[in-house]
Amino acid sequence: MSLLVDKVCVVNGAASTIGRAVADRFAREGAFVIGVDKDDHTVGNHTVRADLTDESQVQAMYDDVVDRYGRLDVIYNNMGLMDRGDQSVLDTSLQTWRTVHDANLTSIFLSCKHGIPHLLNTEPSGGSVINSASFLAAVGSATAPMAYAAAKAGVVQLTRDLGVHLARSKVRVNAVLFGPIETPDQRAVFDRNPGALEKRLVHWPMGRFGTLEEASGTIAFLASDDSGFITATAVPLDGGITEAFTVPE
Ligand SMILES: NC(=O)c1ccc[n+]([C@@H]2O[C@H](COP(=O)([O-])OP(=O)(O)OC[C@H]3O[C@@H](n4cnc5c(N)ncnc54)[C@H](O)[C@@H]3O)[C@@H](O)[C@H]2O)c1
Repeated sequence: MSLLVDKVCVVNGAASTIGRAVADRFAREGAFVIGVDKDDHTVGNHTVRADLTDESQVQAMYDDVVDRYGRLDVIYNNMGLMDRGDQSVLDTSLQTWRTVHDANLTSIFLSCKHGIPHLLNTEPSGGSVINSASFLAAVGSATAPMAYAAAKAGVVQLTRDLGVHLARSKVRVNAVLFGPIETPDQRAVFDRNPGALEKRLVHWPMGRFGTLEEASGTIAFLASDDSGFITATAVPLDGGITEAFTVPE
């Protein structure tokens, strides 16, 4: 496995289960990994603690990475959060809306704004940005956390615009539409609410969670030159959910 040999890769939101799995996968593919998170962590060859909603911290993080390691090739923007107060718009406070948008969308705006100039300056110029979105950005859902879904839809449009805008510069920008990936947090949600998983599984064509290996493998592919003709798109990583119309038997 050697998809990312000699590439310097920033994984933002690296302390999470998916972020850690992607950082590990990047390293196994030969990358030098910088793990960034607002929480204490030990992920990556070099670890950074930064609040990615704070513009000065984002800018300082990227400047420091390039000062130290001389180049930047890949940015994986994994950070995000869900908020229990984020339900129907009719019941959601403005503060919750802002918190959710800051963590899921503004952080990606800031990461692109301050990270991409370094991709453009790396010799030879180019690189790959992968932004984490959700299948909720692609469907209307009766039960969605609506601020989160709107923020992830914003990520998809930001990705599309940047991908097209930068297409001739050899910087590629893509998003992933995650479906349910098996993480301890996901499991805990369903453990707290027995029956909720069974109701949902009917609508998941594959009838299971995605694995961390499947998620990190797809992101490593999008980070690598093997995906060199893919840009400005949102890749479903959802076991077919966004394409499916399912009727309970
Ligand atoms: N797990 C799933 O099934 C699933 C489904 C759809 C989308 N996603 C998306 O995938 C990504 C990762 O999911 P996860 O389940 O591992 O989530 P998670 O909540 O475990 O991880 C998010 C990480 O981002 C970090 N983070 C949040 N705000 C930050 C900030 N301001 N600055 C720096 N770091 C910050 C957190 O500390 C955490 O380590 C998220 O964007 C999530 O929305 C996941």
